[in-house]
Amino acid sequence: MKCNVMLFIVFLFYVKLIPAACNLNLNLGSDHVVWTVKNKNGSISIPATVPGGIYSDLHKAGVIGDILAGFNDVLTRWVAYDTWTYTGLFHVTEEQLTTNVAHLVFHGLDTVAFIELNDAPVGAANNMFVRYVFDVKKHLKVGVNELKVVFQSPVEAAKQRSDKHFTLPACVPDIYNGECHANQLRKMQASFAWDWGPAFPSVGIWKPAEVEFYNGSIIRSVSTYAERKNGKWKLNIKAYLESSQEYKQIDGYLSAKLLLEGNQDVKVGKDVNVSTREDGMAEVELNITISENVVRLWWPNGYGDQPLYDLFVFFSTRGNKNEISQKHLRIGFRTIVLIQIDASTKLGNTTGGQGLVFYFEINGYPLFLKGSNWIPADILPELGYNETTVNGLLTAARDAHMSMLRVWGGGLYESDYFYERCDQLGILIWQDFLFACAMYPVDTEFLESVKTEVEQNILRLQHHPSIAVWAGNNENEGALRGNWYDTQPQFEKYKEEYIKLYVETMRPIVENLDLDNREYLVSSPSNGLESELEGYIAQNPSDPHYGDVHYYNYLADNWDMNIYPKTRFGSEYGFQSWPSLATTKTATQDPNDLRLDSEYSKHRQHNPNGNDYIVQQIDRHLKLDQNDTNYYEKFVFYSQITQAMAMKAESEYYRQNQYEWYTMGALYWQLNDVWQAPSWSGIEYGGKWKMLHYYAKWFFAPVLVSPRLLLTGDVDVYLLNDRFVPIIDAQVIVDVFNWNSLIPVKSQSYPANAPALSSNKQNFSLSMWDINRDEIFLRFTLKAEGVSSSPYNFIFPKPLKSVKGLTTPSIKIKVSNPTDRLSGKQIYYPVDVQVNTVVLFLWLETAGIEGQFEDNGFIVTNPYIRTYFITKKRISSEKLERTITHQYYIH
Ligand SMILES: *[C@@H]1O[C@H](CO)[C@@H](O)[C@H](O)[C@H]1NC(C)=O
Ligand SMILES: *[C@@H]1O[C@H](CO)[C@@H](O)[C@H](O)[C@H]1NC(C)=O
Ligand SMILES: *[C@@H]1O[C@H](CO)[C@@H](O)[C@H](O)[C@H]1NC(C)=O
Ligand SMILES: *[C@@H]1O[C@H](CO)[C@@H](O)[C@H](O)[C@H]1NC(C)=O
Ligand SMILES: *[C@@H]1O[C@H](CO)[C@@H](O)[C@H](O)[C@H]1NC(C)=O
Ligand SMILES: *[C@@H]1O[C@H](CO)[C@@H](O)[C@H](O)[C@H]1NC(C)=O
Ligand SMILES: *[C@@H]1O[C@H](CO)[C@@H](O)[C@H](O)[C@H]1NC(C)=O
Ligand SMILES: *[C@@H]1O[C@H](CO)[C@@H](O)[C@H](O)[C@H]1NC(C)=O
Repeated sequence: MKCNVMLFIVFLFYVKLIPAACNLNLNLGSDHVVWTVKNKNGSISIPATVPGGIYSDLHKAGVIGDILAGFNDVLTRWVAYDTWTYTGLFHVTEEQLTTNVAHLVFHGLDTVAFIELNDAPVGAANNMFVRYVFDVKKHLKVGVNELKVVFQSPVEAAKQRSDKHFTLPACVPDIYNGECHANQLRKMQASFAWDWGPAFPSVGIWKPAEVEFYNGSIIRSVSTYAERKNGKWKLNIKAYLESSQEYKQIDGYLSAKLLLEGNQDVKVGKDVNVSTREDGMAEVELNITISENVVRLWWPNGYGDQPLYDLFVFFSTRGNKNEISQKHLRIGFRTIVLIQIDASTKLGNTTGGQGLVFYFEINGYPLFLKGSNWIPADILPELGYNETTVNGLLTAARDAHMSMLRVWGGGLYESDYFYERCDQLGILIWQDFLFACAMYPVDTEFLESVKTEVEQNILRLQHHPSIAVWAGNNENEGALRGNWYDTQPQFEKYKEEYIKLYVETMRPIVENLDLDNREYLVSSPSNGLESELEGYIAQNPSDPHYGDVHYYNYLADNWDMNIYPKTRFGSEYGFQSWPSLATTKTATQDPNDLRLDSEYSKHRQHNPNGNDYIVQQIDRHLKLDQNDTNYYEKFVFYSQITQAMAMKAESEYYRQNQYEWYTMGALYWQLNDVWQAPSWSGIEYGGKWKMLHYYAKWFFAPVLVSPRLLLTGDVDVYLLNDRFVPIIDAQVIVDVFNWNSLIPVKSQSYPANAPALSSNKQNFSLSMWDINRDEIFLRFTLKAEGVSSSPYNFIFPKPLKSVKGLTTPSIKIKVSNPTDRLSGKQIYYPVDVQVNTVVLFLWLETAGIEGQFEDNGFIVTNPYIRTYFITKKRISSEKLERTITHQYYIH
């Protein structure tokens, strides 16, 4: 397979120069090599998968059941306490052993491991995010070779390190059922448990492994930077050549070819003859200058297209005509700058004008970024790289108008595929480094390992146009300032260590290696430049005048916009809900578990008092009787309504505040889930959309009329316009409805407008003092030329539990044959809904048919609505119609 790829690439460029080459590398994946794994005392010995992990292997072998079912997270914890030895037998040929260099390469080992080849120790590993390269030339033999990777229990390893290098906090809260000292290991921090996830302290060869054979040198990484100047793009390409430490000279020819619009290409190349550094590496640059009009600009989702251009880089070793190393990247042409300048330049002499703005300027335009936070796609890291799962989540983000995701610091540097999809979908990435909610040790061994980790990951990722910014850690500035972990008695020591790690160790590496000059923020949230002025631990890291803000408030009324803080950039905010019954039933089949007070439910809720907060929010707005026979089912549904409405309020509030505060980002917590449990996610484990994700499609719509109910009872109206063209001469139609009729009792139209890329507060305000607010609600519609769609919006002046006139609707649902509206392999089934009165939160579900609705959770104010069921499966429309069930709110 590898050989074929090589031939194709070679054909493209070298067809006349050299004969096709085939590299001699040996893939050590379990598709090619037989692997087994056994525990310390040999009581378990089973086939193993590479790349993979111990929990997957034990599950496949039938030793443990579905790890996400019931209480299996704690029932399988013994796995994490044992020692696991992976053994692979592979075959080496005489030809392979003729090469000068034989490197055993592990692209990812999770985590503390000792490696033996043919009974000789060849090295050790202790950082899951690092690629390990071991020189095994002298250990290999022609014929069968035995490779052993012995994984120490990560729980034990963390404890051993903690005994020597203790740093706070010791353990996660008891309610997580987790493990201690995650901060001692360079391992996915969430694998020791989080407030939304179980502990699965995995071990395994979680990324590909191979033996590389060559004579001269290979291209290990390529980094790029496209600078726009005087009508031209100057593309700087840096190839990181790697050789054996025994060969001090790299001698050969480096070339690059860039494909442009209209089947054009440019090629450059040069002779290389350089000495390597001690680690066997050398860097060589190439530059290509092209005219601006041979490429198109790359834009975030919603702001334009995402053209990508193929860049091939080749290195051929002198005297070894058959030996060519190549890299293929797809690059985008765009500029991105994080602007932090005096806010008065935007907002004048106002409260909002104090401090510094914080926004991304892309291709010269300030763009409001909408999106969410990404946690690992699976609690087992190897499954988190599953392309089907990743693609499903990223396209769902794209479909909800998201233009940025924050890859959160307790997870992973994601797969190449992940960032390639983000490049294609236009989803910008805020990339945290993988430090979260803890203090971290700074002993030499730890810092050296972090340095390698940062170097390698910057070089692997930096060419992606989707990456927008790096952040040193998640919430550790806030944690230290806020004394979350009892650090106060040793504040100065912890502060010094904080600076040593994020500022003195990591920052220079990022700044040196990221050719694209992206900003490195020390923490998220932080006050950005202001935090730095204040010595990196700001007095108030949540100061709304600076940087980004994380905001959670479970006690106040989350549907009320007036509770939310002003911020320059909301990078985290959220509220919990429970997953649907369908999803929960993939974790338990016992009907007795489906109660809020069951041991199962308590086990799944890691947020202290989490269910109380949800119940309190529900009680503010909806009527839910404790004694209702369907209490649990309704509770789950209402929890999703409450979450969707809360995130709608907060997200729209941030969008509105582009006007008064120059808020320029809204990323809610969190996009996805790792198990079937209550969490802040908008998408359930397995891919089912909660009401929140459907609402995100509406509240992140490029054009939206967004009303704000003030404490005075008046309503301000904002017109949100995330487009490059202004909205002029538009009308906002405000319909006043009684709860019991689909015919508005009053309609009024107001002139409206919004400049390009803006939120514009309209020059009218609605007063509702003269009406009976228990009986009515307001609907907002935009009529504007050139605006193809803009969702309805609503104001409910009174809590829904106390409105008068809401009546039980009659609802008819009809499914027709699929339209010819196709997108990829998706089929669109028209779903027509007919009602006779106002329906609140009409929620459609299909049992057992994979797919989702185009929209859902409707506030129905028209007698007919049409939506679509989107699926890859072809089914009869009658059958689909029969499987559709619905729910709605009524008291
Ligand atoms: C071997 O180890 C397993 C897992 O730790 C343990 O359950 C089992 O009792 C041990 N067996 C023997 C024979 O010691
Ligand atoms: C490459 O450089 C080395 C060391 O300077 C030199 O000995 C060798 O002749 C050079 N090779 C070529 C092809 O110029
Ligand atoms: C390529 O461009 C970079 C950045 O402008 C410059 O520093 C470098 O000297 C150039 N290299 C070559 C080989 O022209
Ligand atoms: C590497 O060098 C050996 C010995 O000189 C030669 O037989 C072999 O063909 C070379 N391999 C490649 C890929 O050029
Ligand atoms: C800003 O406004 C305040 C209050 O209106 C006023 O006292 C102050 O002089 C103004 N500052 C500038 C620089 O205009
Ligand atoms: C990825 O996940 C999908 C959906 O769960 C599954 O069907 C597929 O087999 C997985 N792919 C791999 C390579 O494990
Ligand atoms: C629920 O039932 C209990 C016991 O029958 C009763 O005491 C309580 O008043 C009921 N609560 C409501 C809200 O009806
Ligand atoms: C807003 O409306 C009032 C009254 O209709 C008018 O006097 C004023 O000029 C308007 N302001 C703007 C900015 O359009």
